[in-house]
Amino acid sequence: MKNFDFKNPTKIIFGKGQIDKLKEEVPENAKILMLYGGGSIKKNGIYEQVKTALEGFEVLEFGGIPANPEYSVLINALKVIKEENITFLLAVGGGSVIDGTKFLSSAALYEGDFPWEILSQKIPTQKGMPFGTVLTLPATGSEMNSGAVITRAETKEKLGMGGPGLFPAFSVLDPTVIHSIPSRQLVNGITDAFTHVLEQYMTYPSGASLQDRFAESILQTLIEVAPKVLNNPKDYTAASNFMWSCTMALNGLIQKGVPTDWAVHAMGHELTALHGIDHARTLAVIAPSHYKFNFETKKEKLAQYAERVWNITEGSLDHKASAAIDRTETFFQELGIKTRLSDYTKDYHGTAEEISKRFTDRGWLGLGEHQNLKPEDVEKIVKMSY
Ligand code: NZQ
Ligand code: ZN
Repeated sequence: MKNFDFKNPTKIIFGKGQIDKLKEEVPENAKILMLYGGGSIKKNGIYEQVKTALEGFEVLEFGGIPANPEYSVLINALKVIKEENITFLLAVGGGSVIDGTKFLSSAALYEGDFPWEILSQKIPTQKGMPFGTVLTLPATGSEMNSGAVITRAETKEKLGMGGPGLFPAFSVLDPTVIHSIPSRQLVNGITDAFTHVLEQYMTYPSGASLQDRFAESILQTLIEVAPKVLNNPKDYTAASNFMWSCTMALNGLIQKGVPTDWAVHAMGHELTALHGIDHARTLAVIAPSHYKFNFETKKEKLAQYAERVWNITEGSLDHKASAAIDRTETFFQELGIKTRLSDYTKDYHGTAEEISKRFTDRGWLGLGEHQNLKPEDVEKIVKMSY
């Protein structure tokens, strides 16, 4: 096991009816900006619950943060924060609203004139404006981590940011919020969380038995609850296990002491930036090709995953490893997720070259757990996923 530091300061308030506890968590005398997305919270009752919980507080609102939170929209929210002397941000939404809020938390205290620099220059956020979240969509883990991904339509970029100052102060996780989530977003959530675990697990053995088993247990739980959640989002037991699995998949715990990959996400973000494909679906497109391309360096973990997660126990190590890649792709397909780029766009020619060029321009020369994947390898992997 590798050396590690681990600190996660986010308080989780989990369960049915917990939105009411907001009033105990928001600082007294806070001037709050409540941030939300395209309006789902106004149809499913979450907006009302939040407003009721915050009676007596001074609350301004900013709605309309789109999926894949857009920089130019967030800049309008930043103006409100500055003009109104906001002191606390409350994100009510999925990963996009929470990530947008993290950007605002950082930008509110940023001293430069052009806050896109936080992303383009990879400036870590040591301190941000305090914020909390009410999660409405289990998927990203953003509710308990310090990362965010922001899109800029003008330049077709989608870049990551983060830092120790960007953990939410608290996150309210009420599993009943999934009642209103369309199945397209539920399967996205399952696929995203599943791939988060794979990114932190599908590398090489490092003697971290507990982390391996944490990771495998999250994968097994997601596989078990997926059909239940999709058949009946009102199954509270399934919903609560789904929600907590998504959070645990990316709150930092399972990546401690182990090598991590994250190349699937790096390539996937480019597919969203270039073609507007849902985040989770880009991962299902890239992951099978990535594991095939890197078969030799990943096959021991692939075989372990085959045995422990999918119960594929027959045959050689190579056979099990290869079967695990196929089973993973089939799992995504069973959820209703298409796994080829050409399923999403007819305009895919040249995508691999463009992504490879972007990585070269940004100086991203060594992706993957061995930091040895070159832009030309990325080009091959993306082409394999056409
Ligand atoms: O905007 P509204 O109207 O709220 O509708 C949303 C949106 O259209 C809807 N939705 C959310 N909760 C709902 C609901 N509809 C009905 N009932 C509810 N309870 O779902 C749609 C998608 O929401 P979004 O927040 O975009 O989805 P998700 O949570 O999957 O977030 C995706 C974003 O997170 C980033 C992705 O790149 C993408 O931009 N990620 C963030 C990460 C992080 N911060 O750690 C890690 C991830 O790998 C990922 O990159
Ligand atoms: Zn993801």
